[in-house]
Amino acid sequence: CGIIGIVGTSDVGPRLLESLRRLEYRGYDSAGIAGVTSSGLARRRAPGKIRALEEVDAADPLKAAVGIGHTRWATHGPPTEANAHPHRAGRVMLVHNGIIENYAELKAELAARGRAFESDTDTEVVAALLDETLETEADPVKAFQSVVGRLHGAYSLAVLVDGHPDLMLGARRGSPLVVGWGDGEMFLGSDALAVGPFTQRITYLEDGDSVVIDHASARIFDEANRPVERPMVTVPASAALVEKGNYRHFMEKEIHEQPESCQRTLSAFANPVSGQTTVPGGLNFAEVERIQIIACGTAFYAGEIGRYAFEKLAGLPCDVEVASEFRYRQPALTKGTLALAVSQSGETADTLAGLTWCKAQGFKTACLVNVHTSSMAREAEIVWPTWAGPEIGVASTKAFTAQVSALLALAVAAARQRGRIDAAEETRLVARLFEAPGLIAQAVADHSEAMTAVAHDLAGARDVLFLGRGAMFPLAMEGALKLKEISYIHAEGYAAGELKHGPIALIDEATPVVVLAPPDEVFEKTVSNVQEVAARGAEVILITSQDAKVPHAPGLRRIVAPDCDPFIAPLVYAVPVQLLAYLTAVQKGTDVDQPRNLAKSVTVE
Ligand code: G6P
Repeated sequence: CGIIGIVGTSDVGPRLLESLRRLEYRGYDSAGIAGVTSSGLARRRAPGKIRALEEVDAADPLKAAVGIGHTRWATHGPPTEANAHPHRAGRVMLVHNGIIENYAELKAELAARGRAFESDTDTEVVAALLDETLETEADPVKAFQSVVGRLHGAYSLAVLVDGHPDLMLGARRGSPLVVGWGDGEMFLGSDALAVGPFTQRITYLEDGDSVVIDHASARIFDEANRPVERPMVTVPASAALVEKGNYRHFMEKEIHEQPESCQRTLSAFANPVSGQTTVPGGLNFAEVERIQIIACGTAFYAGEIGRYAFEKLAGLPCDVEVASEFRYRQPALTKGTLALAVSQSGETADTLAGLTWCKAQGFKTACLVNVHTSSMAREAEIVWPTWAGPEIGVASTKAFTAQVSALLALAVAAARQRGRIDAAEETRLVARLFEAPGLIAQAVADHSEAMTAVAHDLAGARDVLFLGRGAMFPLAMEGALKLKEISYIHAEGYAAGELKHGPIALIDEATPVVVLAPPDEVFEKTVSNVQEVAARGAEVILITSQDAKVPHAPGLRRIVAPDCDPFIAPLVYAVPVQLLAYLTAVQKGTDVDQPRNLAKSVTVE
């Protein structure tokens, strides 16, 4: 979910809406704004996209000099108007990200004292508790801090109190919140992007902090409610980067940006002129005995590709696990383990919790993040950047290839530091890596007729299988995820060799099979798997290079990928996989940038 709060001196309504449009990537199933108006608290809410809220507001514009706004990704309760934020209880109006874990207990307690509730949300309970506390504690700051002290879980909050037109309260734990410093006005936001149109001067609150702002200043308190100073930083304007330009969708734009984002990211880890790698943060992989990658979604698949490279090239044991499992199963990590969180946003709640857990256990921690000021960046000892720039499309593309670029380069660095390769081999591999941007550009340019025709057919399928071996296996899973996310077609990614142990039973004429087969050392084996499925009547879409020798099989179509070294094939082959999903979704007419039920940044567990 996304939060914006503005304490100004003139009408803030239009700017709340402007900020919400930028925050839509965080969730978009309902939205709302509220303010302290001349006649008390008022709000406008609507289920659906920000557009719907804009219509509601246009009919009766909110007029207030202090206001909050929220765009929601539903956790407790369906996306209805009643469940949309801001939530109100008496003299309190607030917006919230995260989950209040003890809300049922608090709700029962309040209900026993006669409180009634309008929504199914955990958020309304916080508003009710604050309203109740204000009955006996007239100072809104003290009342708020005592309420925050009773909350369990992960949250960030922005709060208005009736009768206080120059006051906003905020708090965070486990979910980010920033203070923005304007000229004669102040802001709260769930990230720097939220306040980006208004100010670049930002203070990141720490976990457990609360904040009190008026139009001119902010007072910050730590967990124990002691006043604290937190540094102000200047965050560069990124406004221009989040425009769609001439592209139809952000996803299309972001697919096209990959040559550059890959190049920029590689440059942080290797030098194409000297042919040498560097490890930002000064880590020596010779001192690392094992890597534990923690990630969710697309970042998890990037991590899996990283694992193949770390083990094969650097002989460095590497495990990869989805963060939601990792964080709760008491993993038995061995001494010398480096915990590595991989995340575009750096905010995904499960990944962050896994990282924090590893740190608390005394393990060395690193993160590979695209948002360099994110919570993970501030938590981890070592921060490895990806340079994809702001990614707006919910389905990750350029952040994924940036993660893979960084992991491949780090694997080369690790191999060198561990004495597994010599300087000449390092130079050769670095040269291969820097071939990737050009080959990606070539793959992006190839909107071939073959691809469009395949997408047309996929759009009519109910199920699609993606197959690959080696690093193409995680890419097959990523391909299936992309297709599921944006075209709503059921898809599975399988290790090509595992097909015969079950999934082959699914194969018939109606189940297209996409096979990722760069001409590498397992190419022949993959081709055998192709024949197994083709023999069972499946339509096979083989993504491989122009020259790869593929025996004739009925129902087999080829999509040509640029010829490349197998080491960088996960980067180059990512492009046709993304384009297939994108073109299929366009064919189906789905909402490519904001697919149903998803959110770009999931800050709840
Ligand atoms: C959400 C997004 C996915 C993303 C995952 C991890 O589920 O919809 O596209 O891969 O979160 O996000 P992160 O920011 O940690 O990479």
